[in-house]
Amino acid sequence: MEKAKMIVDKDFRVSEIDERIYGSFIEHLGRAVYGGVYEPDHPEADEQGFRKDVINLVKELNVPIVRYPGGNMVSAYNWEDGIGPKEERPRRLELAWRTIETNEVGTNEFMDWAKLVNSEVMMAVNLGTRGIDAARNFIEYCNHPGGTYYSDLRRKHGYEKPHQIKTWCLGNEMDGPWQVGHKTAEEYGRLALETAKVMRLVDPTIELVACGSSHSGMPTFPQYEATTLEHTYDAIDYISLHQYYGNASNDTANYLAKSMDMEHFIKTIISTCDYIKAKKRSKKTINLSFDEWNVWYHSNQQDRELEPWTIAPPQLEDVYNFEDALLVGSMLMTFLRNSDRVKIACMAQLVNVIAPIMTENGGKAWKQTIFYPYAHVSAFGRGVALAPVVSSPKYDSKDFTDVPYVDSVAVYNEEQEAVTIFAVNRYLEQPIELNADVRSFEDYEILEHIVLENDDLKAVNTATSQKVQPHSYGVSALRNGFVEAKLSKASWNVIRLGKKR
Ligand code: AHR
Repeated sequence: MEKAKMIVDKDFRVSEIDERIYGSFIEHLGRAVYGGVYEPDHPEADEQGFRKDVINLVKELNVPIVRYPGGNMVSAYNWEDGIGPKEERPRRLELAWRTIETNEVGTNEFMDWAKLVNSEVMMAVNLGTRGIDAARNFIEYCNHPGGTYYSDLRRKHGYEKPHQIKTWCLGNEMDGPWQVGHKTAEEYGRLALETAKVMRLVDPTIELVACGSSHSGMPTFPQYEATTLEHTYDAIDYISLHQYYGNASNDTANYLAKSMDMEHFIKTIISTCDYIKAKKRSKKTINLSFDEWNVWYHSNQQDRELEPWTIAPPQLEDVYNFEDALLVGSMLMTFLRNSDRVKIACMAQLVNVIAPIMTENGGKAWKQTIFYPYAHVSAFGRGVALAPVVSSPKYDSKDFTDVPYVDSVAVYNEEQEAVTIFAVNRYLEQPIELNADVRSFEDYEILEHIVLENDDLKAVNTATSQKVQPHSYGVSALRNGFVEAKLSKASWNVIRLGKKR
């Protein structure tokens, strides 16, 4: 059996993990909102129309922050359409996804839903068709206590207390030619700066995220970030990154290595932020908000065949397979390795639209394959990310060289006296033995070795069959301060250690 080695030492630290890296995203797109989180006629609906079965699954993921309401949709969205009496709300052509938006759910309803799932909301403002004026009114409506036009309007709508939304996105993917109101970096940088200034005048306690590149293949990457930061450096806190991967060419070895592209993307943006920091002789550090990430490609063809201008059509409904869960595991570990700078990350999205949770209208809700690595890292990946000292046999693929078969990182939770080793074995044909030196953790024992494995890389979960599910009988032992674990071929592993009680 091939062997890999790792050192897990409590003193080799990357950073305290910001729990918001386990965030997610709900856009008014397809059946994410209507049929996903909200379906008043569903047997599981609560008095506000929210699906309780979906709420329970979201709670299992323990999602600390949810980005809302878009996405591409926000760039032509009038926030005023989604407030006040529902019967008076306008139906609009939703231009990003070419559907009809009923506006039955808007800001206040979404804030209520977020409370039910114990999440904060990361709110986006429209910098496509709108700008400074709409943004200042919106933040006044959401965050100002009262005694002014918009704050009193919120109170009139039944929300006496302000929502106190802390994190705000200054638009969405403004570098993309597909975006309504697409802008050059110069245009966007100026607008983002002036909008940030005004929003902070209304509420100085907020944090702001400026748009970066829509993905690492954009022709304007990373100049778009550099120019945007030149304008906004002192006014914002985070720069945003987005990235989706797919396996359209059915080359799994290459597909599973794509988290290396993500790592490179992150490192390049960190360098770009720090270059502008040096240019400006600034003491301030800009951190990263990876506020859209996932696998997205399965539904592309199906989406091209949909009729435009319908309400909540089944858009972007990727049915994820087992190999997608492996890549998602590696993407999550990439955030942990970079947790000194990645402070927010949002799996895009949460329900039905490229999502870990799927529903049928009027029917069941279930877990897709990618639900599992997300749930595991969210549950056991809180604390301090330890510096990954891993030595693994390697392979070359179509786009990558020196891809480690074993992708791994460990997290130490001091308070709970727990250490968790996360690992993907990218070797498709054989198991690998992982030998981890954990001698700095005295009197620890293995609590559990969770494994997600399947002989069929393309196996999927549906409403009626859950073919891809984790088990807890992974093979590992702790001897003389070393964990010896068998990582099954093509597998996701969670090896949990705790202090002996
Ligand atoms: O998440 C789906 C879409 O992907 C978002 O609306 C957009 O921001 C990105 O291109």
